[in-house]
Amino acid sequence: MGLLIIDEKKCRKDGICARECPAAVINLSENSIPEILPDTEARCMDCGHCVAICPHDALRHARISAAGSPAIQPALVIDAARAEQFLRSRRSVRRYHAKPVEKEKIQRLIEVARYAPTAGNGQSVEWIVIGDGERLRRIRVLTVDFMRELVKNPQAVAAAPYLPATIAAWDAGNDSILRGAPTLVTAIAPASARLGLVDLTLALSYLDVFAQSMGLGTCWAGLVSGALENSAAVREAACIPENYTHYYSIMLGYPAVQYHRLPERKTPKITFVE
Ligand SMILES: Cc1cc2nc3c(=O)[nH]c(=O)nc-3n(C[C@H](O)[C@H](O)[C@H](O)COP(=O)(O)O)c2cc1C
Repeated sequence: MGLLIIDEKKCRKDGICARECPAAVINLSENSIPEILPDTEARCMDCGHCVAICPHDALRHARISAAGSPAIQPALVIDAARAEQFLRSRRSVRRYHAKPVEKEKIQRLIEVARYAPTAGNGQSVEWIVIGDGERLRRIRVLTVDFMRELVKNPQAVAAAPYLPATIAAWDAGNDSILRGAPTLVTAIAPASARLGLVDLTLALSYLDVFAQSMGLGTCWAGLVSGALENSAAVREAACIPENYTHYYSIMLGYPAVQYHRLPERKTPKITFVE
């Protein structure tokens, strides 16, 4: 059996799937039924475009679950105004309730985040979710230790002038590192994923915006991520495996704040070349 399973009663032989295939591996047989020939199977990225585009529900892909490929529900399509407000109302949350985030909710967030695009449909992003208070404390302390070393270098302070104040706030008893978030989510990708950082940043962005629809808040954990990049001790505390060279963390929790307006941002510089 080939990769494509065609319901010949439903197939209109219109070649839509073949035209859409980004890897150009779908061939139309003599009777115009789509197929992937054995010698090109390896080039198929399993991206699912063929399944998604067939308007007649005539095509299945052997490596893509049919049950996991539901039809798009018109009633759930959001218009541009709703989408714009949803995206614009996402904000970094820096005050959280102590309430832990339920595992099922985190799982749902990550299940949605996996639909972010990945280079070559590599889907190599993995996740480390830390809710253990003692481990989070160690990550914070080690991050501050790293920052204390960093600020000894005037060039580092010039590049990140907020560092001394962040350390001072920590020393004054404020969690300036993880803002009291009960959960730290780190997206990781192995060294073999050439564009792993791009892939995981996109996945985290999906998680970031989707979280607000579930009543959750997030904030990108740049200080921890900077420490992860430079300190093996922080990587160990954050459970990053040795051969994973791409990572970034985000705070997650129930927000103790609510926002009411959509402050404007800088006017974008756009160069249209026509
Ligand atoms: C890559 C990245 C790292 C960040 N790191 C931190 C951080 O360590 N601590 C923090 O409080 N905010 C952090 N932020 C949040 C930014 O300050 C915030 O996104 C920006 O001020 C815009 O505000 P908004 O996210 O509420 O729209 C980070 C944001 C990004 C994108």
